[in-house]
Amino acid sequence: MRAPGGLTSAGGGAPAVPATAAFDRLLAMIAAHTGIDGRASRTKALRGLYAERLVTRGVTDPMRYLDTLLDDADEWQRYMAVVTIGETHFFRDRARWEALERHVLPSLLERAGGRPLQLWSAGCATGEEAYSLAALVDRAGVPARIAGTDLNRRAVAFAREGIYTDYALRGMSDAERDALLEPAGPGKWRVRDRYRRHVGFESDNLIAWAEAARIVPEFDLILCQKVVIYFSAATTQRLVGAMSAALRPGGYLVMGYSEVMAPPPGLAVATIGDTFCFRKPLAEAGESYPRGHATARPAIPQAPRTDPLSAAWELVVREEFGRAEALLRGHAKGGEAACLLAWIHYRRRQLTAARRQLAAHQADAARCPEPHFIGGMIDQAMNDCPAALTAFKRALFLDPSFAVAHYHLAELQWAQGWHGPARLSWRNAEVAAERDAQRIYRFFGGFDVAAFRQACMARSGA
Ligand SMILES: C[S@@+](CC[C@H](N)C(=O)[O-])C[C@H]1O[C@@H](n2cnc3c(N)ncnc32)[C@H](O)[C@@H]1O
Repeated sequence: MRAPGGLTSAGGGAPAVPATAAFDRLLAMIAAHTGIDGRASRTKALRGLYAERLVTRGVTDPMRYLDTLLDDADEWQRYMAVVTIGETHFFRDRARWEALERHVLPSLLERAGGRPLQLWSAGCATGEEAYSLAALVDRAGVPARIAGTDLNRRAVAFAREGIYTDYALRGMSDAERDALLEPAGPGKWRVRDRYRRHVGFESDNLIAWAEAARIVPEFDLILCQKVVIYFSAATTQRLVGAMSAALRPGGYLVMGYSEVMAPPPGLAVATIGDTFCFRKPLAEAGESYPRGHATARPAIPQAPRTDPLSAAWELVVREEFGRAEALLRGHAKGGEAACLLAWIHYRRRQLTAARRQLAAHQADAARCPEPHFIGGMIDQAMNDCPAALTAFKRALFLDPSFAVAHYHLAELQWAQGWHGPARLSWRNAEVAAERDAQRIYRFFGGFDVAAFRQACMARSGA
């Protein structure tokens, strides 16, 4: 039975389902304008919203409704609010923040010659990342302007207000919390004015920005974390290319772990402390990267009480590599511990040490897929694509349900221009994900299965 507004209805009060062609067009519009693959992200909620809007607006011709949707900013934003995933918290991923505070900001400051630094939290969601940056900047006395931008206007309005619940504060020590925020009623915290003055928030679409005719190199630092994970490979490539162009010489691009493995064009990998990011080479030759500018180290939350190996994994997921290593060396023995030590070296970009660690446990590698996978990640970081491909395939030969190995195999295949095989590998990753929750959590930066599957679907729609 055909219901008004392009909805098909089973009758008798059964929920209406939007006609496929129009809904598919809506998904295509969302992907084209935002980079987000709506098939991967929140499809059910999108369907529900679309059906509700057709009914509320009394739409009889869904295609005509879609013809004008982009011109109606309020209506379009309803979809943006549903399709975007705004999960974030203060000081997410510790090692990055330590690297920013101890190395990146001092290095930028040294070169800025007194001009305020231009910093950008791209895809800032509700603002926690931008305010975390403001805390570092203020603590270091660095003159800086921080822009926070996001597609989701509601998130931006929330960021401007700067009032948070305890949930957003879960990565902070009490001292950090009290420095940055003041109580604003039961269970609520407001960012202090002295930090707000560094930050301005705007609603902006990264895809539209990346397609702008002229991008000027104006930023010293761009944080774009956990944003492109839901973009197709082609869209990600375009966006990081534009970000590279938008960086000043010596500027840094920080992305989420495992979002972009190879340096974007014009940038090089910079290993900093326990993490890595991308850096635009300096215009002049001969400048060395300043090391060891120690500033106050943020307090580190306690590890959960559990067996040493699991506790060490938990610390690694939170990028507290030094503590994880100490725990492992003191308490854990055997193949899995050796493997985790190799992974820690790899995550710290100590690639030779990682390889040595793996080589010392070659006997385990004969039977276990993980050492091959880690070996593949090391090969990839060393730009040895053929070796990395072989290593991922070996891991998958030993265990075809290793979802993250399928994922990285796909990334490599895509980089080689083998788009068909890459899509297939992303689909394999998505299928395998259901039964591979623990390895996804551990080897894919703390993601859960649902988020990982969304990332695979988005990538395979490349
Ligand atoms: C998971 S949050 C990440 C927040 C923060 N960067 C972090 O790492 O905690 C992803 C954000 O990216 C935003 N986003 C997604 N696509 C975007 C686009 N095309 N333009 C601007 N923002 C976008 C979403 O609205 C969402 O708030």
